[in-house]
Amino acid sequence: MRTYYRNIVTAFLLFTGFSSTAEDQNQCLKCHGNHIYSIHNEWTERTEKRLMNPYFVIDSVRMSAGVHQSFSCTDCHSTDYGTYPHNGELKLEPMAGCLDCHGGDEKYASYQFEKIEEEFGKSVHAQACGDAFTCSKCHDQHYYQVTARNSESVTGIVRYSNEMCLSCHDNMQKYQLLSEGQKPELVEAHSWLPNKNLHFEHVRCIECHTEVVDSLMISHNIMPKENAVKRCVECHTADSRLKASLYKYQNLQSRSENGMMGNILSNESYVIGAYRNPLLNWGSILIFCVVLLGVSVHIIFRIIKK
Ligand code: HEC
Ligand code: HEC
Ligand code: HEC
Ligand code: HEC
Ligand code: HEC
Ligand code: HEC
Ligand code: HEC
Repeated sequence: MRTYYRNIVTAFLLFTGFSSTAEDQNQCLKCHGNHIYSIHNEWTERTEKRLMNPYFVIDSVRMSAGVHQSFSCTDCHSTDYGTYPHNGELKLEPMAGCLDCHGGDEKYASYQFEKIEEEFGKSVHAQACGDAFTCSKCHDQHYYQVTARNSESVTGIVRYSNEMCLSCHDNMQKYQLLSEGQKPELVEAHSWLPNKNLHFEHVRCIECHTEVVDSLMISHNIMPKENAVKRCVECHTADSRLKASLYKYQNLQSRSENGMMGNILSNESYVIGAYRNPLLNWGSILIFCVVLLGVSVHIIFRIIKK
């Protein structure tokens, strides 16, 4: 099945040479790019405006920033979508997952798709929801961007990553597609964490909810809540776990080289206890020596006076 998809897609992409993508996309985006679309109704012989299902609106700006920007819609969707109204059976069309196209492909080896799939298989999501929880639940194939690897902005990386989780954990409908239960309230679940909002802006959910896997850029094994990081010192020390996770990327590394997590200070966030300024260190030693000197001189004079 996998090779089947891959061959079709590769052949198709080679064949079309990506050239007419924009035109192809516009054929669909004239309806799917907007909340309102028009059709010519042949029964009434009138042009009518209608509302698009908001979940079926595709944001072409976001798509053009994503990794699959060069695709035509019909590289992934059936070409039968070219006619409107769409054939009802198309609703049941099986869609390719990430591994169908990226599995076993040398070109993408650096992303370690197979290892990611394996790790994801162990996660609470895969365990509790089975096949219903696909990679696409977090990575929308229309918009997916590689962020942590490329971005220079820690807050940008954190926001991008956390929005993936919040798009579901903060959205009852999406959550209930996967679970019969009530969505747990994140505010309550994290009430032990002081200044929750500040933390959510500066650390990723995955920092606390996955174990760090050295061989992967992004750990994909989300663990049960019992195993989540709760101890403050895991981050608020010089040997912060953030070094092995959020700050493991090359693009952020140069910053961590100027003194431990000095990077965090020079950037947009700050970790208590992790920050050491060598000047201040020397300054405090100097002050200490001066005080010691003062005290000794004082003592010596007292002794001499006696
Ligand atoms: C004339 C407007 C129009 C055009 C053009 C159009 N669509 Fe649609 N499309 C719709 C409407 C309306 C719906 C929702 C109703 C339905 O499912 O038929 C829809 C639904 C869909 C769905 C969701 C089906 C489901 O229920 O899961 C997909 C996928 C889709 N369109 C893809 C495409 C693609 C790909 C193209 C371009 C080749 C395209 N559409 C062109 C109007 C259009
Ligand atoms: C890289 C593959 C890919 C490309 C390119 C792509 N789609 Fe999709 N599309 C998907 C997948 C996969 C789904 C199903 C998402 C899911 O079920 O989680 C989907 C779902 C949809 C839906 C239904 C929304 C939903 O959430 O079920 C619409 C509408 C749609 N696509 C329209 C488009 C249009 C219009 C384009 C071109 C501008 C396009 N797609 C290009 C892979 C793609
Ligand atoms: C239908 C086949 C197909 C599917 C499904 C698909 N991809 Fe892709 N993907 C491609 C192709 C082909 C490219 C290369 C596009 C190009 O070069 O413009 C690509 C590019 C990428 C890249 C950029 C690689 C690079 O370094 O330039 C990443 C990352 C990626 N995809 C991740 C994913 C993820 C994650 C998913 C699942 C959510 C996914 N893809 C689903 C076919 C697919
Ligand atoms: C629970 C949410 C979630 C699921 C499910 C998920 N991922 Fe991810 N994935 C993430 C997050 C968060 C990132 C970090 C995004 C970033 O900053 O680039 C990421 C990053 C990635 C990257 C980029 C890694 C790198 O080295 O730069 C790839 C490739 C990827 N995921 C593939 C997959 C595949 C394949 C699946 C399904 C087997 C999957 N993901 C399932 C959340 C998820
Ligand atoms: C598409 C929806 C969706 C997305 C996206 C998603 N989750 Fe979940 N998550 C769920 C559902 C549903 C459950 C409940 C599974 C169950 O029934 O036990 C869950 C469970 C969890 C749990 C386990 C709670 C427990 O009871 O042990 C944690 C932790 C968690 N998610 C964190 C995350 C993180 C971190 C991300 C982003 C990287 C994320 N989730 C993305 C739907 C989602
Ligand atoms: C500083 C570490 C930390 C961060 C950051 C964090 N969590 Fe948690 N989270 C925890 C801990 C610890 C628990 C378990 C709390 C308990 O059982 O009392 C938890 C519990 C949860 C639960 C289970 C709630 C329940 O009652 O079933 C979910 C879901 C969850 N977190 C999702 C997220 C999401 C989504 C994010 C990012 C927006 C996030 N967490 C960020 C540490 C963290
Ligand atoms: C996953 C790593 C992580 C964990 C675990 C963590 N923190 Fe933080 N914390 C951070 C980061 C990063 C910041 C920096 C935010 C900023 O830029 O000010 C921060 C900021 C803070 C601040 C605010 C500092 C300020 O400038 O206002 C307080 C207070 C704090 N943490 C206390 C705690 C306590 C108490 C715990 C344990 C219950 C804890 N943190 C657990 C990473 C963490």
